[in-house]
Amino acid sequence: MPDTQPISALRTALAEAAAEIDVALDQILPPEEGPEAPLLAAMRYAVIGGGKRLRGFLVLEGAKQFGVSRQAALRVAAAIEMLHAYSLVHDDLPAMDDDDLRRGKPTLHKAYDEATAIIAGDALQALAFGTLADEETHSDPAVRVELVRCLARAAGARGMCGGQMLDMLAEASGEVLDEAHVGRLQLLKTGRLIEFSAEAGAILGKAPPPLRHALAAYGRDIGAAFQIADDLLDATATPAQTGKRTGKDAEAGKATLLGILGLERARMQAERLVDQARHHLDSLGERADLLRDLAGYTIERKS
Ligand code: IPE
Ligand code: IPE
Ligand code: MG
Ligand code: MG
Ligand code: MG
Repeated sequence: MPDTQPISALRTALAEAAAEIDVALDQILPPEEGPEAPLLAAMRYAVIGGGKRLRGFLVLEGAKQFGVSRQAALRVAAAIEMLHAYSLVHDDLPAMDDDDLRRGKPTLHKAYDEATAIIAGDALQALAFGTLADEETHSDPAVRVELVRCLARAAGARGMCGGQMLDMLAEASGEVLDEAHVGRLQLLKTGRLIEFSAEAGAILGKAPPPLRHALAAYGRDIGAAFQIADDLLDATATPAQTGKRTGKDAEAGKATLLGILGLERARMQAERLVDQARHHLDSLGERADLLRDLAGYTIERKS
């Protein structure tokens, strides 16, 4: 267990990053003007002022390893947080997890309506890609294309969307899946976007391939640990702690590693993944200490 010093340094850094990401999002999102104002208001509701900003923080810390400008890193962090917010808005819809609480407030389709939630999710996704492709994000078009390509892969049919499909199929069939199948489901629905978040700073900084791969491998492992922790929190925490309804996975018959392994073994697996994630950072120096601490935070968190 890390001592309290790095944990509080990490918490401070996370809070600072969250504030900076909110400023970047506010600048990138169009103002709530014109006939489309309700859509723009819904997009802002979904993405500004909430969430742990873990993915955005990963971009910022990854970018720091390679001397990338804060402005560029913040735009990529904002893009990934928009993509993530879209995935949450759609995940909460009645056709999917049917949730009414997200980040401590009503889900978007409850605060507005289902059509607005679907459209706002779509528009957040479009804006995420548009932001990566914009010249302001990086002067080199090859870097911008690589960011777009990798986010498309992480978010698409063999990434987050594919994982969400497997999640829904498992719920609908009610079949008990084996550990390998659930591991793949979680790698796709959660792991791929977290992997890309960890890798994005290396893409921006044109890092040597071994270092880029090390960050991606780190992201994959903390992504897997992160979803196990999410499932553990669903089973053990309260809505006041997490800002979303809990106890829903078991009720809905969700395929989780917790369901297969039980509490203790799922916790042990998450700890093993965190150790493994830290080892992937061995080729990076002290500058990566916050990333090392973040690995532990993914499973020690209470929200
Ligand atoms: C929730 O993600 C969805 C999962 C992939 C488990 P987060 O726990 O990162 O949600 P926010 O961004 O902090 O609200
Ligand atoms: C969602 O996983 C992962 C996404 C791609 C959005 P969950 O359905 O477990 O996320 P929560 O618990 O609703 O945040
Ligand atoms: Mg879900
Ligand atoms: Mg859900
Ligand atoms: Mg969950």
